[in-house]
Amino acid sequence: MKNSKKLRALTGLQPTGNLHIGNYFGSMKPLLDMTKDHDVVLMVADYHALTSVKDRDILRKNILNIVRDYLAVGFDPKQIILFRQSDNPDHVELGWIFNCLVTIPFLMQAHAYKDKIAKNLEPNAGLFTYPMLMASDIVLYNTDIVPVGEDQRQHIEYTREVVNKFNGNYGELFKTPKEMIMKTVGVVPGTDGQKMSKSYNNTIPLFSERDEIQKAVMSIVTDSSGDKPENVYAIHKLFMTGREQELERLYEENHGRYKILKEALVEEIDSFITPLRAKRKDISDALIHEVLEDGVEKAKEVSNETMQKVRKMIGISI
Ligand code: ADP
Ligand code: TRP
Repeated sequence: MKNSKKLRALTGLQPTGNLHIGNYFGSMKPLLDMTKDHDVVLMVADYHALTSVKDRDILRKNILNIVRDYLAVGFDPKQIILFRQSDNPDHVELGWIFNCLVTIPFLMQAHAYKDKIAKNLEPNAGLFTYPMLMASDIVLYNTDIVPVGEDQRQHIEYTREVVNKFNGNYGELFKTPKEMIMKTVGVVPGTDGQKMSKSYNNTIPLFSERDEIQKAVMSIVTDSSGDKPENVYAIHKLFMTGREQELERLYEENHGRYKILKEALVEEIDSFITPLRAKRKDISDALIHEVLEDGVEKAKEVSNETMQKVRKMIGISI
């Protein structure tokens, strides 16, 4: 994997709560589809989660759960590098070095930071410098492609910016990564029509039981002014790729019958989730620990090499 000629794709998710179908279609599924012909790196962004989760029991539980989710949706830890950010100190080290290359006014322009402040999240310094830790996550592994949702686009731009600053000041080292944002997915709407997000209480959790799916789908807001109930349709489409004609027929035949369309959506989601839910129940904590231990060894093999070069280039290897 270390010297392979394939392009490398990397993403990370924060262990801040139960994953939802927006996370799945926005970032996990694109990465999963890439495992065939790319080197794939998947990370648990637990130091990023520390900017908002301050309860140790909750964080610990979320970390175990997200790894369980990764395995249940089909990531094979033998085939990819699956690891946890805090297990590899290279991330905070390079994050610090990057902090010293960017200015406060530059970081102040980050939409994600501004949005979180607007939602009354604590403006801690970690939240402010978050994009530089994310940039280090990406470039430590010579990443080419980063599959993410639309809301992360600017963070990848920030990564390119700091890469240019580093390369400009110290010499060419890092590649400039590209984001991969699925046009067909865009922003998956939540039950209230806003972006589906763990922090908005508007999700369809990825591993929900049938009654939870039913409750969430029935509560999706429908706008009667359009031709179709747009939010229901947008979610339905994600579950019926390859069956577009069937989907169109369903919506034509049931024009205006929102309850029937929602029931059909519940069926689709449930039949997709049932096997994942079953698989997830069989994943033990012991297996998770084993996966993370192996994963960080593989991660460090790549990132340690990057850091040796970085230390020389910036003048701290004396
Ligand atoms: P959340 O907003 O639920 O806390 P995260 O910020 O942890 O989600 O996002 C993890 C990944 O999932 C990111 O790549 C993000 O862009 C993607 N993602 C999150 N919500 C959506 C959505 N509603 N539609 C598409 N992608 C999403
Ligand atoms: N910031 C991302 C999010 O909130 C999570 C993340 C951390 C990430 N490090 C990353 C995503 C590296 C892609 C690559 O969703």
